[in-house]
Amino acid sequence: MERVPFFLNESESMSTLLIQNGHLADGSLADIFVRDKYIHQIGPGLTPAADRVIDAAGMLVLPGVIDVHTHIRDLGQADKETWHSASRAAAEGGVTTICDMPNTVPATFDTDALQLKLRAAEKSIVNYGVNFGVTEKNAVEIRKASPINALKVFMAGSSGGYVVQDETVLRDVFALAAETGKPLMVHSELQDCVEGFADKFKPCIENHHLLRNRACAIKATEMLLRIAADSRADLYLAHISTREEIDMIREAKKSNAHVFCEVTPQHLFINTDILDVAGNYGKVNPPLRLAADNKALQEAVIDGTVDTIGSDHAPHTLEEKKHSYTQAPSGFPGLETSLGLMLQMVFSGQIEYTRLQDLMSGNPARIFGMKNRGALKPGFFADIILIDPQKEWTVRAAEFRTKAHYSPYEGMRLRARNRMTIVNGRVVYENGNFYENRGMAIEY
Ligand code: DOR
Ligand code: ZN
Repeated sequence: MERVPFFLNESESMSTLLIQNGHLADGSLADIFVRDKYIHQIGPGLTPAADRVIDAAGMLVLPGVIDVHTHIRDLGQADKETWHSASRAAAEGGVTTICDMPNTVPATFDTDALQLKLRAAEKSIVNYGVNFGVTEKNAVEIRKASPINALKVFMAGSSGGYVVQDETVLRDVFALAAETGKPLMVHSELQDCVEGFADKFKPCIENHHLLRNRACAIKATEMLLRIAADSRADLYLAHISTREEIDMIREAKKSNAHVFCEVTPQHLFINTDILDVAGNYGKVNPPLRLAADNKALQEAVIDGTVDTIGSDHAPHTLEEKKHSYTQAPSGFPGLETSLGLMLQMVFSGQIEYTRLQDLMSGNPARIFGMKNRGALKPGFFADIILIDPQKEWTVRAAEFRTKAHYSPYEGMRLRARNRMTIVNGRVVYENGNFYENRGMAIEY
């Protein structure tokens, strides 16, 4: 395949950077010296000569966000999103690594599709990984698949996704995950259960959370925790949405160090109340739940039950989202808003910057075994973001870099904005401007 040409601009050709006087998550003031792709030194009062000196006074300096839950769509659904458009959205939002989900066209169920996707991902300006899909029949492909971030199971369908919901089959899948050493990421809603609710409520967006009933998410998570108790596999519960699941996970984690929990900003901060205004723009799976669920999830972020934040960036075309409730696909973009929304938990005093950094960078890197990512340390890749904590902004989907120009957060005022994104030692985003770059495939 022909390689995509890219052109170095002046700032990108520089091989050393000195970021001065930024505040780290722990509140300390430090300089960071970057050489080539890596952080070389970090500490106060560094004085090496550098090709570019960046004044970070007043800025918060964090490791770039690692978002292991994104839907990039490229190849067969490039009208919805491409690696180029998604990665620009990521860079603007402070995200330096994105991992794609397998429900693409073609679906990532075999190694040919994986290689095709990895080649398409070379257009990404940020780093990337691929979550490999599980079916009942692809164990041979799973054993060969490399490099991959995780194995992904859909226990209920949503924008494609092969459904695996039988407990016996799932036990085999857990065994395979343990054998390969790859975390098992699960969309935890039960398809049969969801179908059982189909004729119980009128099909309209206000009833979406009743149709994809919380009971179906709770049952699926119950089953997964039961299997996990007998397995050595790492279970990564994606986008957990209910209070009941959070309570079960908190309990399970006391005796099982192989259980990990992801939540999304949408399940933390918005609920069915916004559907009057957002309509189908707020249609997502698992559905937006209730204010009491927001509260329980936030408490779990605070007390450590939640390990990571995933955006579940799920772009569709505006035209598709304007269809009637039953026709409109589920999902909305999240790469440009996830960090901005999470920062509000710091400003409201609920969490510290250090906890935010763990949730969005350190923990994803650790859980998925990403080599030298997710922290500001000498020898680690220089994936760095500079956030202006005083810069207020308003969410305007029309201005998004993703192709999906709609958002349930439309008009929301957020405090603090990402100003600069550095990927593998290169500035790729700065105050609204982008520089061409080739992200790297994450190594595990
Ligand atoms: O709302 C959703 N959209 N939930 C999913 O699980 C899939 C996603 C998509 O791919 O559109
Ligand atoms: Zn998803």
